[in-house]
Amino acid sequence: MELNFLWLIAGGVFVFWFFRRANEWYYVGRMGGGTAYPLPPGDLGWPFFGNMLSLLKSLRSGDPNSFVNNLASRYGKTGIYRTHLFGYPSIIVCTPELCRRVLTNDDTFGLGYPKSAYLLAGRKSLHNTTPAEHRRLRRLIANPINGHQALAMYIENIEDIVINSLDEFASMNKPFEFCPEMKMVTFKVMTKIFMGSVSDSTFWTTHNLYNDFRMGLMSMAIDLPGFTFHKALKARKKLVKVLQSILDGKRVKAKSNQHEGKKDLMDLLLEAEDEDGQKLEDEHIIDMILVSFSAGFDSSAFGSLWAIVYLTENPEALKKAKEEQDEIVKRRPSTQKGLSLAEIKQMEYLNKVIDEMLRKTNPLSIFREAKVDVSINGYTIPKGWKIMVWTGAVHMDPQNYEDPQDFNPSRWDNIKTKAAAFMPFGAGSRSCPGGDLAKLIITIFLHYFLLNYKLKRVNPKSPLRYTQGPMTDDNCLAEVKKIL
Ligand code: HEM
Repeated sequence: MELNFLWLIAGGVFVFWFFRRANEWYYVGRMGGGTAYPLPPGDLGWPFFGNMLSLLKSLRSGDPNSFVNNLASRYGKTGIYRTHLFGYPSIIVCTPELCRRVLTNDDTFGLGYPKSAYLLAGRKSLHNTTPAEHRRLRRLIANPINGHQALAMYIENIEDIVINSLDEFASMNKPFEFCPEMKMVTFKVMTKIFMGSVSDSTFWTTHNLYNDFRMGLMSMAIDLPGFTFHKALKARKKLVKVLQSILDGKRVKAKSNQHEGKKDLMDLLLEAEDEDGQKLEDEHIIDMILVSFSAGFDSSAFGSLWAIVYLTENPEALKKAKEEQDEIVKRRPSTQKGLSLAEIKQMEYLNKVIDEMLRKTNPLSIFREAKVDVSINGYTIPKGWKIMVWTGAVHMDPQNYEDPQDFNPSRWDNIKTKAAAFMPFGAGSRSCPGGDLAKLIITIFLHYFLLNYKLKRVNPKSPLRYTQGPMTDDNCLAEVKKIL
């Protein structure tokens, strides 16, 4: 009896050991042992699941960087580790130098997002072009998205929505879930910037379709009824039709010189021409709008939300930020209505507040894939493996930022830190073209919030979770009150 029990335990240990090693044997075996350097330290986890369970545990713990910190404490602070995530053998890089090396070397590292993201982004999107076409498109969209004139033009559109929404929040006179409300306002802001004024029915159709669309971006690319990706593809087809009809309407108006009011991003993309006088095709514009919406919507909504929450939790920073905004309004000539880009450029402290928020709360990882076997810091990254450029860990590493958990906008007084270890918008040819626009949206939210409102959270200790972004368990239940 005792012997049988011992055999059972030994058998269990063997099965555990076998399955725990299976991924390593499979993937390392496929490399054929011909590389000059060893793989980075780490392990490839369980067959099929890899290390996903550990990652999900870290995301649910509210500290997603604990996944990388655990690797560092097990394998040493090499800043480069092997793992297996989202169904792929992967390499994590998490030092400023390694992150930049990967992001700025397009010959060796290509984009590494899931197949679903490419299929949903569209044939003419930035994600599915040749490098030369990518460069051309980036030149064409630079001014419409981030150009000085465009930003100045977008301010008025953003202001109206922000002012009205904050007023509505305060008039509720009771706590509400701040997170979904901020997302809704940001969606309104982005719709107005991207497409101008649209009817209520177009707005709601776009909103609902877009929700289905973005759910599919990181899903398994299975185009069968019942799967998230299938629903997202259907939403994409309908969204394309909606955007095409808006484009057609704009073209008709432009031809008959009926353009009333401010221009929007679509108008500017329709007008854009490259050095050879070539314009963007409608498919380019539609795919660009869809990708930009996906890239910019959640991140800008969470950005505004967390900047307000961090300021509320830090009275000294809140006081300083408010004083700066009050001062700007005091200096404003009585003839000027609303904010100007010149004023926004003077908001030195608020800019630091936003950078500090971006450092603490930004996309954790950027995905790449090795095009060839690469030697890096004495290790091999095998061809075809994914690379997770884990900028979140760089931003929260005490070697790069003193007391990284603290929200301390004044740390940015020392500008030197910024260049080396700050990558909220990525780096290299794929770095975010919408960074200035995102900062503009967040600045306008903060400006009007700081002037007139305060936030009172119901459960300030509600635990943080990373699901579709950094969010508290109670969806940030809070009351917005007017400052009297
Ligand atoms: C706080 C807000 C934002 C953050 C933190 C953010 C972050 C990023 C990052 C890290 C990348 C690089 C991805 C990579 O290298 O694979 C990126 C790319 C991109 N972002 Fe943003 N973004 C924000 C807002 C926006 C906005 C408002 C827009 C709208 C125009 C936008 C449009 C894009 C596009 C089109 C790309 C793809 C660029 C390419 O592949 O060439 N983003 N973003």
